[in-house]
Amino acid sequence: MRTDSGQIVRLEDYAPSDYLIPRTGLTFRLGNERTIVVAELTIERRDGVDASVPLVLDGDGLELISLQIDGEELARSAYEASSQRLVIHEPPTRFTLTIETAIAPATNETLMGLYRSSGVYCTQCEAEGFRRITYFLDRPDILSVYTVRIEALKAQAPVLLSNGDPVERGDLDGARHFAVWHDPFPKPSYLFALVAGDLARVSDSFVTMSGRTIDLGIYVEHGKEKRAAYAMDALKRSMRWDEEVFGREYDLGIFNIVAVSDFNFGAMENKGLNIFNDKYILADRETATDFDFANIEAIVAHEYFHNWTGNRITCRDWFQLCLKEGLTVFRDHEFSADERERTVRRIADVKGLKAQQFPEDQGPLAHPVRPRRYREINNFYTATVYQKGGEIVRMLRTLIGPVQFRAAMDLYFERHDGQAVTIEDFLRVFEDAAQIDLSQFSLWYHQAGTPHVAVKTSYDARRRSFSVELEQSMPPTPSEQRKRLLHIPLAFGLVGADGKDANFTSVDGGTVSDGVIHLKRRRQVFRFNGVNQKPVLSINRGFSAPITITSNANAEDRQFLAQHDSDGFGRWQALNDSLLSGLIAAARGKKAPVTAVTTLLGNIAADESLQPAYRALMLSLPTDADIARELGDKVNPDAVFAAREDLLAAIANENAATFATLYQAVEGGTRFRPDAASAGKRALRNVLLDYLSKHENSPQRAATHLSAATNLTDRFAALSVLVHRFGDTDEARDALANYERQFGNDPLAMDKWFQVQATAPGFATIETVRTLMRHPHFAITNPNRVRALVFTFASANQTAFHAASGDGYRLLAETVLEVDPRNPQLAAKLATNFRSWRSVDAKRQALARKALMDIASRNGLSPDLRDIVERTLT
Ligand code: ARG
Ligand code: ZN
Repeated sequence: MRTDSGQIVRLEDYAPSDYLIPRTGLTFRLGNERTIVVAELTIERRDGVDASVPLVLDGDGLELISLQIDGEELARSAYEASSQRLVIHEPPTRFTLTIETAIAPATNETLMGLYRSSGVYCTQCEAEGFRRITYFLDRPDILSVYTVRIEALKAQAPVLLSNGDPVERGDLDGARHFAVWHDPFPKPSYLFALVAGDLARVSDSFVTMSGRTIDLGIYVEHGKEKRAAYAMDALKRSMRWDEEVFGREYDLGIFNIVAVSDFNFGAMENKGLNIFNDKYILADRETATDFDFANIEAIVAHEYFHNWTGNRITCRDWFQLCLKEGLTVFRDHEFSADERERTVRRIADVKGLKAQQFPEDQGPLAHPVRPRRYREINNFYTATVYQKGGEIVRMLRTLIGPVQFRAAMDLYFERHDGQAVTIEDFLRVFEDAAQIDLSQFSLWYHQAGTPHVAVKTSYDARRRSFSVELEQSMPPTPSEQRKRLLHIPLAFGLVGADGKDANFTSVDGGTVSDGVIHLKRRRQVFRFNGVNQKPVLSINRGFSAPITITSNANAEDRQFLAQHDSDGFGRWQALNDSLLSGLIAAARGKKAPVTAVTTLLGNIAADESLQPAYRALMLSLPTDADIARELGDKVNPDAVFAAREDLLAAIANENAATFATLYQAVEGGTRFRPDAASAGKRALRNVLLDYLSKHENSPQRAATHLSAATNLTDRFAALSVLVHRFGDTDEARDALANYERQFGNDPLAMDKWFQVQATAPGFATIETVRTLMRHPHFAITNPNRVRALVFTFASANQTAFHAASGDGYRLLAETVLEVDPRNPQLAAKLATNFRSWRSVDAKRQALARKALMDIASRNGLSPDLRDIVERTLT
């Protein structure tokens, strides 16, 4: 295990490898305590490289057993081996290197490399986990054709899987058997995967656009087969969508997915053998919420889409991570928008971006979407690389339009198939296909920070002109002190009194085309001529650019847009701004007039022309964290909480009658269906439940809602109201006890039980979380458990995590230190919850700093954790 601080890796130091590995043969003799790996690597020196240059292979925690070149044992003087490296001096130009190593899957708690999860052997290699399996050139620009032989006890592991197509299988002596897999597509080592164990297969098939039949399999624990049906359906829809929207066909004869219960992240796109956190595969009405169903659909699609954006075309080096991740996030967002409801999906995605990426970009961990340096690459699987990376691709489409966008993507696949490329290569494709210059636009990849645009509008009735003054700025971030000006595409409309977009005859001051203002200079005044009436500006429609905006729009303008903007996203944004400005004022101790907006919410709730899912989003108040982010500094989470509760009460009290009628009218649904329309109705009814319970100040409605619930979405909503609003009543205690009795044997359902308790407002929750960490269903080694209880506590419970005593910070620091020796990546992720520590009030800052210092002062921290803690403190 590596400890202490890692070396800094710099983009400018990239150099192609001196050696290549065109073919890789691997034999695994699987054993829990000891697995033997024999690697047979075909190695070639690159043309022009001097024969004296040694071959240096990466390793991590490996035990070398033997080493041969072209079948001959290597002399001790010909190489140097450590657990971290294998150096071969003066190797031949082209040769076969045979390396035998031993590894210990059973004691591998890092969940990187080869490990065991609930009795199943599985692997996770991205980013640098393959080196924990054998010595290799473990970098994404080394593409190799793999043949893999797996040997295991037949009873322990009847299922033996790897990438590509199955070639051969048979029995061996000693109750063992073997299987051989061959993947014809050259791939980087991070896409290697192996699974072996006793699993059930759910099988299906898919006929591709050219008429090939693909064998589809989802492997799950025995008895959980039924819970894979939704994921299988999502997979087939993803395959069809990628053909229809991007012209991309699947390329192997078989596609397998395996669900495992111990996994560091969501899922992994290994070629032909995706491995998933079972949370993102298993679903039925009793154990998954509608939110989980939507996530499963999105993640199954995401991993499948990687087959073209990530696997067929991969990254030259890890600085280019957004090349595959940003692009694939954009693709999965578009898929969900097409499969569900576009505006609703866009609002949900933007809420996610603001909740996760904005605080990262505005705090000490800010980094460019394409970073230039890192100490630990695992810490760069961030909302910035993924989500902001996805937003940049969306802006590219806005810039050139959907037709040229598709042409550019076609060119990308044609030009770079089979290659490991860079963001520069990606951008060049767009420049060539659309004949544009993206040099200014490309800064989006290179500069960290959330840009800000200040908007000032004015109407000149005599000249019939409407001017929009825009000024961009960006505060300094750790990666750059001085920022250059960005090209910001702002979709907009000039909304007339009738709610329709007003016409204009011409524009002065800059480029405006297809409903998009192109802001390129620091300050630009766009004058729209021939505007007959004073309009209200709706800007950044659809969140066309990931920025923050302030404007001289007043409360009436915002409320007008919230009611009348023809753009559904624009309406939500205007409403959200209205709500936030009232909440901010209240949190700062100013009394804010709320009546106009409370009436508005009543009208929206009852507006049958709007989809239930959309109404539910409109009615969901900004979270405590949203309000805190908007406040910016000296945040007092108790004041934020009180402001939000007051507004909630005001809305509930004014609209109690409307909400009660509506609550009755929205059908609960007897037969559960997970589709977007049914989920939308549940969402609306559940948000009304919260308002009504607040107004009635009684647990009764939630208790009834709970006992009538036929699915986890409704059950979880009722449980949340009970535990968060009426925590010390018998109703709440009984509800928790019953839930535990009913779902105690289902870990994923129990995660919801941990989650609901971890988010109960108030400092008493700190003690609850400590107690729950000793609960028999909790396991510090399982990332899903730790995330459900501790990560949720730190990220979604502002009043408890930021308790004035500092106990919340201490709880997080202690947990981080307990997790780190086992699972550094999980520890580092947990620690990122300290990232906004400078935005709380001075007293809390001092306590947060102390907790961070307690971590930083320990010896032997993992490089992952040390990197996060040190960057957070600077
Ligand atoms: N590539 C995976 C995805 O689909 C995630 C891998 C995460 N790896 C890591 N080291 N954090 O997004
Ligand atoms: Zn991905």
